[in-house]
Amino acid sequence: MGWLRPRLNDRLIKACRRQPVDATPVWFMRQAGRYLPEYRKVREKHDVISICKNPDLCAKVTTMPVEALGVDAAIMFADIMLPLQGMGVKFEIKEGLGPLIQEPIRNLDSANSLADLDPSNDVPFVLEAIAQTKKMLNVPLIGFSGAPFTLASYIIEGRPTRDFVNTKALMYRDPKTWHALMDKLSTAMASYLRAQIKAGVDVVQLFDSWVGCLSPQDYHQYVLPYSRRIFKELEATGVPRIHFGTGTSNLLEEMKQAGGDVFGVDWRIPIDLAWARLGSDVAIQGNLDPAVLLGSPELIRSQATEILTKTKGKVGHVFNLGHGMLPETSPQNVIELVKFVHDSTKNSG
Ligand code: CP3
Repeated sequence: MGWLRPRLNDRLIKACRRQPVDATPVWFMRQAGRYLPEYRKVREKHDVISICKNPDLCAKVTTMPVEALGVDAAIMFADIMLPLQGMGVKFEIKEGLGPLIQEPIRNLDSANSLADLDPSNDVPFVLEAIAQTKKMLNVPLIGFSGAPFTLASYIIEGRPTRDFVNTKALMYRDPKTWHALMDKLSTAMASYLRAQIKAGVDVVQLFDSWVGCLSPQDYHQYVLPYSRRIFKELEATGVPRIHFGTGTSNLLEEMKQAGGDVFGVDWRIPIDLAWARLGSDVAIQGNLDPAVLLGSPELIRSQATEILTKTKGKVGHVFNLGHGMLPETSPQNVIELVKFVHDSTKNSG
């Protein structure tokens, strides 16, 4: 029966819908990255954006960690900045740093000059890569986009930042420009995610990586309406929606109001506490500190056990890191962690 494709592993979908699973699903943010020797080999010849624009290469890199690690999902190899090119934002991705924008947007004219996103024209390679990747996988494929706040922060600052001073200054001093920018970005990302779903992704994740820098009242006023618009627009598709941020322990109630079926939290908050605050009508994803994977196998198992103990007996936990995999990570530690999570939760519902 070798010609039959193995049955789809749907643990992730079930956990997202808070249905019982045969073992806890595991995947990792940045699971295709520099810590994998196979990935580094591809990167010797191609930069990140070139990989994204070549559907064959992109499908290869996307499926790599599924084979190498035994994870329960693949995440499209792309970057949150990628669709912004089609809107007229010029940038490069600098190794070890992140996105650098040529002309940061800080006034109404430049916000208004951003083009609308037309996915089939602006990111045809992403949609093609999704179709190709789907044919190669027997696990769900996760599509994603940046959330309006996190994208706006890069576009306004022009480079990665720790304090988000320019972003906040624009928000407070020039709310008209802020709202124009957020309006454009949320419309664009809703259509980008819808196009990815149409092309075949099984789950979507909205990355609001840096939103934890805001107070709850500012999140409420300046961010919530835009993230909510995206989640609302995707609701009718029935595709599970993951809402991710880091440092969000002050924002969970607000983020829940914005929407999502699954909430991704980092290690700064105990996962059971985060889940209790969010409520048991949503699923939870997380939350091992990626740096723990730099420790010994015993340390990794003990910290993973702590997370699994805190989520035991409830349906709807997706095991993940609290943020992306570090380049220094040993792939062997990751392989063992995946096996450990599966073995420790087999048949436990
Ligand atoms: O495996 C996966 O998770 C899928 C691929 C993926 C990439 N970027 C490819 C990439 C995903 C999901 C992203 C999202 C992304 N990009 C985010 C949100 C997630 C997060 O980490 O908070 C952000 C903030 C970006 C912007 C960005 N792009 C940064 C901060 C960097 C790191 C720069 C560096 O060199 O460390 C990038 C570059 C980038 N995008 C890499 C990868 C695998 C770095 C590795 C490389 O240079 O090959």
